[in-house]
Amino acid sequence: MEQRKLGTQGLMVSAQGLGCMGMSDFYGTRDEAESIATIHRALDLGVNFLDTSDAYGPFTNEELVGKAIKGRRERVIVATKFGILRDKPVTGGGWAPVIGINGRPEYVRACCEASLSRLGIDCIDLYYQHRVDPEVPIEDTVGAMAELVREGKVRYLGLSEASVQNIRRAHAVHPISALQNEYSLWTRDPEDAVLPLLRELGIGLVPYSPLGRGFLTGTLKSPADFAADDYRRNSPRFQGENFTKNLELVDLIRKMAERKGITPGQLALAWVLAQGEDIVPIPGTKHRKYLEENVAACAVVISDEEMREITAALPAGVASGERYPESMMKLLNR
Ligand SMILES: NC(=O)c1ccc[n+]([C@@H]2O[C@H](COP(=O)([O-])OP(=O)(O)OC[C@H]3O[C@@H](n4cnc5c(N)ncnc54)[C@H](OP(=O)(O)O)[C@@H]3O)[C@@H](O)[C@H]2O)c1
Repeated sequence: MEQRKLGTQGLMVSAQGLGCMGMSDFYGTRDEAESIATIHRALDLGVNFLDTSDAYGPFTNEELVGKAIKGRRERVIVATKFGILRDKPVTGGGWAPVIGINGRPEYVRACCEASLSRLGIDCIDLYYQHRVDPEVPIEDTVGAMAELVREGKVRYLGLSEASVQNIRRAHAVHPISALQNEYSLWTRDPEDAVLPLLRELGIGLVPYSPLGRGFLTGTLKSPADFAADDYRRNSPRFQGENFTKNLELVDLIRKMAERKGITPGQLALAWVLAQGEDIVPIPGTKHRKYLEENVAACAVVISDEEMREITAALPAGVASGERYPESMMKLLNR
C-alpha cells in the first residue's frame, strides 16, 4: 500500500487508515470478534493507521484496539484522542450524549496515561485534541501535549475540528502533524480556509467520515433501518426529507461509479484520496468485506474529466441538513 506523509515531522502512514469508532459506538450492533478480525485483515493488507479515541465507547474502543494490536505493535501507527466528555448512555438504548470538552493541561496528562494503559502500549504515535476547549487557551493544551512528546509518551500531535486561528496558534507551540476533520463528497467545509492553511504550514489532513457515515456507500435506504441506539437517528442529514433528498446525491454517485465498474463507496474514497498526497482518509468499518472493498479504492484512478463531472454533479454545500445535531455543531471550533 502507498505510504503518505503527515506533516513535516516525519510521520508516515498507509494512504488509507481504518476508523475503529463504529466497532464500539454510534453505529448500531457490535461484534468484537469480527471487529478484531477486521483490524488484523487491515494490517495484513498494509493498512497500518488505526484511529480511535477515549471518547469512543467511551473507553471501550481503545480497549478493543489494544486487544487487537497485542503482539503486533510494531506494525501499527496508533492514533487516539482526548478532550470530549460523554454522559452515561441513555436508559433504554441510545448513545451516551456528548456533554462537554476539557483541554486543561492536567487533564491532557491524565487522559494520555489512561489511553496508554487501555491500548496496552507505552507510546501513542499520533495524539489529537478531539475538540478545542474554548475555556482553555490552545497554547496551554498543546503545551501539555508537547511535554508528553518530550517525555516519549507521544510521537506526533494532531487537532480535530480546530479553527484556522487555533491551528496557527497551536502550530506555533509545537509542530502539528495532522488535522482530523470531516471531509467527503458531501462535506467540503475544509476546502475554503482550512486546507490552504494546512498546506501553508505543512500539516496533513485526515478526513473522518469519508463515506458520509455510510450514506455515500448507497447501502442505507431509510432512517427506519437504523437500530434504536444508532447515533445517525439524531443526525439531521439522516432524518426525514433530508434523507430522501440526500438519496438523490447517492444516485448520482452510483451512476458515475457504475460507469467505472466500482461501488459508490469506492468512488467516494477515491475522490478523497485524489485531493492530495497530504490527505489520508480513515473510513470506518467493523466488517472485513467492507474493509477489502474500501482498500481496493486506493487503486482507483479518477481522470481530470471525471473529476470535473463529479464536482459539477456534487458541488460544495449540496448535502441537505447539517452534519451534526445542534448540540454537537456548537462544539466545532469555527
Ligand atoms: N474527529 C472526529 O470528531 C471524528 C468524528 C467521527 C469519526 N471519526 C473517526 O473517523 C472514522 C471514520 O468515520 P465514520 O466511521 O464516522 O464514517 P465513515 O467512514 O464515513 O462511514 C462508516 C460507516 O460506513 C459503513 N461502511 C464502511 N465501508 C462500507 C462499505 N464498503 N459498504 C457499505 N458500508 C460501509 C460502516 O459500516 P459498518 O460499521 O457496519 O462496517 C459504517 O456504518 C471513525 O471510525 C472515527 O475513528 C472522527
